[in-house]
Amino acid sequence: MIEHERIVIVGAGHVGATAAYALMLRALFEEIVLIDSDLALAEAEAADLSDANALARPARIWAGSYADAATARIAVITAGAATHGSESRLSVASQSAMIVTTCVGELVQAGFAGIILVAANPVDVMTLMALRRSGFASAKVIGTGTLLDTSRLKQTLAESLQVTPGSIDGLVLGEHGDSEVAAFSTVRVGGLPLSEFCPPGQELDQGQIATEVRDAGYRIVQGKGYTSFGVATAIVRICEAILRNERAVLPVSTLLTGQYGIADVCLSLPCILGAGGVERILSPALTPSETAALNASARALQQVLAHMDL
Ligand code: 2OP
Repeated sequence: MIEHERIVIVGAGHVGATAAYALMLRALFEEIVLIDSDLALAEAEAADLSDANALARPARIWAGSYADAATARIAVITAGAATHGSESRLSVASQSAMIVTTCVGELVQAGFAGIILVAANPVDVMTLMALRRSGFASAKVIGTGTLLDTSRLKQTLAESLQVTPGSIDGLVLGEHGDSEVAAFSTVRVGGLPLSEFCPPGQELDQGQIATEVRDAGYRIVQGKGYTSFGVATAIVRICEAILRNERAVLPVSTLLTGQYGIADVCLSLPCILGAGGVERILSPALTPSETAALNASARALQQVLAHMDL
């Protein structure tokens, strides 16, 4: 019997539809199912994607129901509350929580037993909600986290340093949001830390770069009303690492269990991602100020979680 790899995307809005399109172009799954409370929207997006698929590697794309999730390998949750203008991600936690807990409940009831990938904001809070609601092992509930912010950091550094982003290592850790930590001590260009790569007198303004990276999402939301391509591509990269059992190290949101003294909260650290989801959480050496900032990020999330019904 031929096994068809299936992914379900819960939420056919901008992020869900863009993720479906990017997944289709990458030809990772034979079956892509869009689930949305607005069935007409899901059907229209699935029809549009199916048209595009005629020019790509064949896949079956349809607007389905939670019952279709039973045999899926991955369920991506993009359904949640949108932020507007300069509204913070954390400020929509309660609205998103209602949506995400309902979606996860439906997935579990349908017999879904794969990996849940949460992209809905505030993604770290929603990842913990999904983890608690599903009762799954923590390895199997992942948030897109700071993979996107890390890409933004690499992109911003690449422009300043005049090297391609792929040649830059480095991490943004903690919350995907206002308290995120651009860990400049982890940055390497050709093995060189920034202090050695940049000639004396030409040091980068790290504070300014961190602010630019942190606020990138707000600038995009102010311009086009939402963000989609960045986070959708982060979704695809994580799905690829899982599907191909790559054991790729990517910063994603996961349940911490004492790393840097932080526990019972989901936030991003570099994780080894393979077929089982998060196979190991890494704790790279950070400077004392980065460690303090990471702890502050965890506290910011814990404050929001204290008001949630977990
Ligand atoms: C982003 O950073 C808004 O979280 C979304 O693109």
